[in-house]
Amino acid sequence: MPTLPSSLSTTRLNLRRYTPADAAWYATMALRNRSHLARHEGDNAAMKINSEADAIAVIQEFGKESDAGNAAFLGAFRREDGIFVGQVYIGVSNANLPGYLVGYFCDEAHLRQGYTFEATTAAVAALFRECDAQRVGLWCDDSNIASQRIAERLGMRREGHVRSDKRHADGSVTGSLCYGLLREEFLAQEAR
Ligand SMILES: CC(C)(COP(=O)(O)OP(=O)(O)OC[C@H]1O[C@@H](n2cnc3c(N)ncnc32)[C@H](O)[C@@H]1OP(=O)(O)O)[C@@H](O)C(=O)NCCC(=O)NCCS
Repeated sequence: MPTLPSSLSTTRLNLRRYTPADAAWYATMALRNRSHLARHEGDNAAMKINSEADAIAVIQEFGKESDAGNAAFLGAFRREDGIFVGQVYIGVSNANLPGYLVGYFCDEAHLRQGYTFEATTAAVAALFRECDAQRVGLWCDDSNIASQRIAERLGMRREGHVRSDKRHADGSVTGSLCYGLLREEFLAQEAR
């Protein structure tokens, strides 16, 4: 099984795994983003962080998952000032293929500046170029227009729509969209 990326660079961003030294600001960031993440990232580990000690435990879990080759949690930091702008998740969805899933969030202070698209583009490219990906997919809510835009701009195809599969805290019911990009499609995109 190929090793998952532990660091990546883009024009504006450096992406890297977290270390225990990140725990203090990660806890502050998680608390600040709680309501921003509640609707579409309710299961995100950041949602369970209430203290620096919680953040240390979460970062340790991220490290274990990375060391086991199951997943990579990469913080995206602006190159010009080192400020955290978001996070990209890479998970192994099928080790035999290999196939991967990506996920992400943007810090609420840095929305709509193209950072998530830029970071996720680098992650997807690394999976095809360095990790032998045959397929990279993502799931998002059918009311999450920003996430749908990211999937579409990555060149992913909308492969499925699971209708009305969840109820939110406000009582609304939404469904889930499945997107995927295959190796040959990525290579054709690169050739263009
Ligand atoms: C989804 C999310 C990660 C997008 O982050 P972002 O950094 O603001 O996204 P980008 O700036 O890279 O923009 C990506 C695209 O979405 C569009 N977009 C961003 N926010 C939008 C919004 N609120 N409504 C409509 N479109 C939006 C952008 O215009 C851009 O589209 P374009 O390429 O056609 O111009 C961010 O809103 C977020 O963290 N949401 C909460 C967590 C979440 O939903 N995670 C994903 C779960 S699948």
